[in-house]
Amino acid sequence: MADAQGGRINFTSKTEESLKGIMTRVLADVSPTDEELALSTAYSNDLVGRLKKAVPRDIKIVAVGSSARGTQLRGSSDLDIFLLFPRRTPRDVLEKKGLEYGKKIVRKGKNESYQVKYAEHPYTKLLLKDIGIAADIVPAYKINGADELGTAVDRTQLHNEFIKSRLSDSQKGDVRVLKAFLKAHGIYGAGARVEGFSGYLCELLICHYGSFTKLLSKSIYMKLPFVIDVLSGKEYHSRDQQVAPYVKKFKSEFIVIDPTDKNRNVAAVVSGEALARFIMASRILLTKPSLDFFYGIKYSDVYSERRVKRISRELDLDIYAITMRTSDVSEEIVVQQLRKLSKRISGALVDKGFSPIMTLEELSGCDAVISFIMDRYRSKSLTIRGPDLHMGHPVGAFFDSHPEALARFFEGGKVIMIEKAEYESPKELLNELIKDKSIYPSCINNKGARLYVNDIPEKYAKLIYSAFIFKTNV
Ligand code: CTP
Repeated sequence: MADAQGGRINFTSKTEESLKGIMTRVLADVSPTDEELALSTAYSNDLVGRLKKAVPRDIKIVAVGSSARGTQLRGSSDLDIFLLFPRRTPRDVLEKKGLEYGKKIVRKGKNESYQVKYAEHPYTKLLLKDIGIAADIVPAYKINGADELGTAVDRTQLHNEFIKSRLSDSQKGDVRVLKAFLKAHGIYGAGARVEGFSGYLCELLICHYGSFTKLLSKSIYMKLPFVIDVLSGKEYHSRDQQVAPYVKKFKSEFIVIDPTDKNRNVAAVVSGEALARFIMASRILLTKPSLDFFYGIKYSDVYSERRVKRISRELDLDIYAITMRTSDVSEEIVVQQLRKLSKRISGALVDKGFSPIMTLEELSGCDAVISFIMDRYRSKSLTIRGPDLHMGHPVGAFFDSHPEALARFFEGGKVIMIEKAEYESPKELLNELIKDKSIYPSCINNKGARLYVNDIPEKYAKLIYSAFIFKTNV
């Protein structure tokens, strides 16, 4: 019947039955308990009541996000409460007053505290320690449509209305199942670390396809570019003429148009890898439904040092690890800077003739590691590909800048040179690179950087091992 790698999948009623059974079980695992729901609803009502007393009447207070829509996962009942200011309010007043009202309602004596957080603009995060729920109090403009947008978060109120009016109770359950599936496979969340599916995107996909099963069974045949227009209920596939203008407009190949704003692609951050992982995982779940697969890979990260050595031995490859400390700033920023540094270093490796087979970056608190998995073969020569032959001046300059070349020749319309390799091993080059202060982005501490090859301390081996398992689990 089914084929997990390619081919079309024929559903039997048995497959459908077992998938249904898995979904029922997952839903029981991941839906918030009655107690959690009662606590978060009571806390939300309490906060809205307190805010109503604290703010002028022309500011509307609304609970938004997954808790307000009934699509949150168990243990994720944090609240988002928006203070909607009239559109005429100047931006600086909105920001200042928004924080002021958020702080005003904190009851410090009742084990409540607050932090000021920064997204596009500042907001207050209330922490209610007794019940372990946090609430973001976010100022925004009251708008009726995307054409009135004043701040990036103004859309959220429109999302709320759209999703609440479209999702049935059973579809809300399907959103939870979808979020749990994506989370288990490491692709839930629109942050820089995951570059996966946001909660709102999950809600829209269930709105569009009607159910978790239908979403999966359609997605496995997806060919990019692919456009979903949730508002009209239409889809455009790679062969449709309508696709090209969307690809041009959004500069993306996987597009889910926000039904509340035709100029926004809700899937903009979904990386090619996250999408491929989703399609692969959907294919396997539909082919051989099992609870074990639904919940993703399980591995133990004890003895990682030994496990990393074993990977190196079994693959006959060297594992290089550069370990560093980072500043205590937002993870989003650190992740982006770590990737930038990793690209810089791997670019330098490639330039000197050492191409990494795999690159891993991982973080835990302020500990960061960049790891390169490399071939053991070392050449004593370095091949350099120069500019295209028709480029004239750059070709001459290329000749001049490589006076030491052992051989020069033309191939495939380019100049090629062979030089004696400058470094004997990646270790030599990496040791030099990590001492170069200029390569480090601002939040990565250059002083503590160390290089290890195959023998990697347990703390960092754990990070490398988990990143390796995730990356190779396809
Ligand atoms: N939002 C968005 N795009 C994002 C992040 C957030 O449009 N990349 C909007 C959505 O309307 C979302 C709301 O902001 O519902 C709140 O976002 P967040 O709290 O991050 O996620 P939830 O949707 O509440 O999902 P969950 O907490 O279950 O992960």
